[in-house]
Amino acid sequence: MLRRKFYTLPITLLAMVLTSSALAQTPATTANPRVMEIIDTRCVLCHGREGESASAVYPRLAAQHPDYLQKQLKDFRDGRRKSDTMSDMVKDLKDEEFAGLAAWFGSRKAAFRQPGDADLAAVGKFVFTRGNSYSGVPACTACHGPSGHGTQQLPRLAGQHPAYLEVQLKEFGKRERSNDNAVMHSVASKLTELEIRAVSVYIGALQ
Ligand code: HEC
Ligand code: HEC
Repeated sequence: MLRRKFYTLPITLLAMVLTSSALAQTPATTANPRVMEIIDTRCVLCHGREGESASAVYPRLAAQHPDYLQKQLKDFRDGRRKSDTMSDMVKDLKDEEFAGLAAWFGSRKAAFRQPGDADLAAVGKFVFTRGNSYSGVPACTACHGPSGHGTQQLPRLAGQHPAYLEVQLKEFGKRERSNDNAVMHSVASKLTELEIRAVSVYIGALQ
């Protein structure tokens, strides 16, 4: 009896470690079956299997940085980022599953984006690359990079749906999106309606 327990415990532990690290380290192209099941039964409806969202109000996830995606998923689950839809989607998911989901969507290729209204995009380009020194808005490129590609911790903005970007900028401005928004609150609260619209149109067409 004692002997059996002695052997089964380490094996169970080893199996647990192997399963969780396999989920976390699955190379993005060979998707883990559990991760694909979650995507095909839940995420696909709004974000598509390839992370190209069905509607402009659902963010595109393709080519987004995995660390950023993982953090947002945890924040939705743990209530740090408020969204009834997303909190419901991820409330029963584990960190290892978030890692698998983030690796999958982060490895998808960003599809081509059509440019929007050229006049608005020109104003948007100015805000994006130079900010607005009259109202104290810093250039977005200072953090999100010259083409909006971001870094591991900083979200990629390039090619994101303008309608989604506008909503996020307004929420940062009003502190309704408050997971780590100290920085983005101070940026977004200084943007006018026109600047928000223009910079979102410009970003939406970046590849
Ligand atoms: C019914 C539609 C719907 C479904 C299904 C859904 N999402 Fe979302 N998702 C949204 C909306 C809407 C937002 C924007 C939330 C907000 O306003 O902050 C969002 C935001 C996100 C974000 C944040 C993106 C960013 O750029 O900050 C991630 C990551 C995400 N979803 C992943 C997932 C995953 C993974 C699944 C499947 C488990 C999923 N979503 C299922 C609608 C959906
Ligand atoms: C000082 C650095 C900094 C500057 C300057 C900055 N940002 Fe950000 N931005 C961040 C950080 C950090 C986050 C991630 C917040 C989080 O983790 O939720 C972010 C997030 C965002 C998001 C959310 C992306 C998503 O997928 O939901 C948008 C949209 C955004 N920034 C737009 C802008 C725009 C437009 C400008 C210029 C007007 C700008 N940012 C300037 C640091 C910066």
